[in-house]
Amino acid sequence: MKCLVLDKYPPFLPLENYSLLSSVPDSDFYLREIDGIWRLFFAEQELLHLDFASAFYRARGGLEYLPKAFKNCERIFDATAGFGRDSWLLAYRGKNILLCERNPYLATLLLQAKFLSERQEKILAVARRIEIIFADSREYLSSKTAADFDAIYLDPMYPEKKKNAAVKKEMQILHRLLEMPDLAEQERLFFAATESGVEKIVVKRPNYACELSAKIPENYRLNHTVNAVNTRYVVYMRN
Ligand SMILES: C[S@@+](CC[C@H](N)C(=O)[O-])C[C@H]1O[C@@H](n2cnc3c(N)ncnc32)[C@H](O)[C@@H]1O
Repeated sequence: MKCLVLDKYPPFLPLENYSLLSSVPDSDFYLREIDGIWRLFFAEQELLHLDFASAFYRARGGLEYLPKAFKNCERIFDATAGFGRDSWLLAYRGKNILLCERNPYLATLLLQAKFLSERQEKILAVARRIEIIFADSREYLSSKTAADFDAIYLDPMYPEKKKNAAVKKEMQILHRLLEMPDLAEQERLFFAATESGVEKIVVKRPNYACELSAKIPENYRLNHTVNAVNTRYVVYMRN
């Protein structure tokens, strides 16, 4: 078993997240601190760190279709946090978001990004609207009810269009970090969301892919879709 971090314990990691350190699979990924910032490495190659103040997270101009899908929702559970880019946009638009990420490296980098953003006056108010947990969303949702959130957001890894040899090496490494999408498991996550009884579930899909599940539980209906350029947000409402 390898360790998530080299050398020392990240100061922004709450002690209750200590399990992050021991939950990593055997791999060449690790986090290393350089100039006070923890960064994801693969072997000797630095891949990324997350910084909510960077351009990557800034409001996306005309491409802000996502907030439209969450009209009238105040408390959102993002079950597939990833880089937190979608959640940051929603928080920027005034929503309160709980981000859940099961990948220990990404969860740690998200915790660091929140820690750092809380020290920047300009984005402090947005940072305060997000919380991050390291967990499997299916497990987490099993103890939740309709009263806990106004909406649940799902953005699972897309099925690959076709093998693309030209995909950049960094992207290939990230794909390896996040594992190949398991469609049956993604469908189980959708069902876990419906079992919570939450009023609204929004699923992000690429335009070339079909719905996450062909089966919609009886207590939900596909209400509408918000169409963006290459993706669509499929909005399910509780009956
Ligand atoms: C496509 S990325 C999400 C990108 C994200 N919407 C963003 O804006 O950065 C999917 C993420 O969901 C996480 N994930 C998938 N299933 C999960 C589960 N059951 N619980 C927690 N995280 C999960 C993966 O580890 C991955 O980081």
